[in-house]
Amino acid sequence: MKNLIDIIDLSVEEIDETIKLALDIIKNPTTYSHACDGKVLASLFFEASTRTRLSFESAMIKLGGGVISVPGAQISSISKGESIADTAKIVSCYSDIIAMRNPVEGSAYVLGQNASVPVINAGDGGHCHPTQTTADLLTIYRVMGRLENLKIGLCGDLLYGRTVHSLINAMNRYKGIKYVLISPKELSLPDYLKDKLDSDGVCYEEVESLEDAMPSLDVLYMTRIQRERFSDPAQYERLKNSYCLTKDKMNLAGEDMCLLHPLPRVNEISEKIDEDKRAYYFDQALNGRYMRMALILKLLRDNESFVNSIPAGTARHFVPDYIPEKYKGIAEVNVHKCTNPKCITQTEQELDHISINGRCLFCEQKTI
Ligand code: CP
Repeated sequence: MKNLIDIIDLSVEEIDETIKLALDIIKNPTTYSHACDGKVLASLFFEASTRTRLSFESAMIKLGGGVISVPGAQISSISKGESIADTAKIVSCYSDIIAMRNPVEGSAYVLGQNASVPVINAGDGGHCHPTQTTADLLTIYRVMGRLENLKIGLCGDLLYGRTVHSLINAMNRYKGIKYVLISPKELSLPDYLKDKLDSDGVCYEEVESLEDAMPSLDVLYMTRIQRERFSDPAQYERLKNSYCLTKDKMNLAGEDMCLLHPLPRVNEISEKIDEDKRAYYFDQALNGRYMRMALILKLLRDNESFVNSIPAGTARHFVPDYIPEKYKGIAEVNVHKCTNPKCITQTEQELDHISINGRCLFCEQKTI
């Protein structure tokens, strides 16, 4: 694997191997404390973050490597109009692996196609957040002892919630998964993901009441209503208090339910629940560092021969091949326009619009 842009870039076998590696890192941390000596992580965060940025940087330091960091678009040359493609080529000159968060959907894919070192998507707008999912999976595995046969409630902003989107794309591939999608109608799961659930044959129901859903859940995954994703502030004000998990509501849940939240929270989980033994969201944040350590190791190992094939002292530039191998020859590929205003096709000047089976290659929204 060259880049981790979407959780589907990891096969189920690779997810299981990465969990195994993370568990070994937890058990034997000193074995790994020099595994990345001399390596450099470029940490590019063009959108606010606490957990993802600090856990990536802490992960690389715990592996013996170093970190160079751009914490904010305003202090990088992106603010002067530099493209993501050029940023990829430049940052590849100074680092061995790149983690990027960016509010623009599909931006991590463009970065990955233009970088000569591995790229990890640390969240691209409302699209996806694969490394959060790996933290979620390790937590579910450590708490429940399995990733199969689970009824999972996903609650809150399912429309813009990139952590939910990536979690669905991971869990769909395990046996016996059922979802209860709990959201106001205005924030229900995007159509492209409902189509995915249907084509994967995964059972789901859509409800608005958290209380009704609670008793039957194995896992409850709460999410924040994200002010920064709304173009209409009045709609945010109307929806922001849709869900607040209190002690009374927790009493409706099973004794062994696993309560998760990618964090940050605003008011959707009462702080009084933090002491409940079913609350695992702080463990989930710590597990994020272990999984990011495992992913950095995997990507550096997977790309050793590719990166070493670049002659020393030269910067490698290549023409990106945007269309994934799996679509070549079998899918309808065309230049239908993406109209998603948050898509990378709207900001990267020379990027062609590419539609695969009616959806934008970069942000997965329907094209016209
Ligand atoms: N869960 C998560 O992505 O948190 P940050 O936005 O703080 O990185």
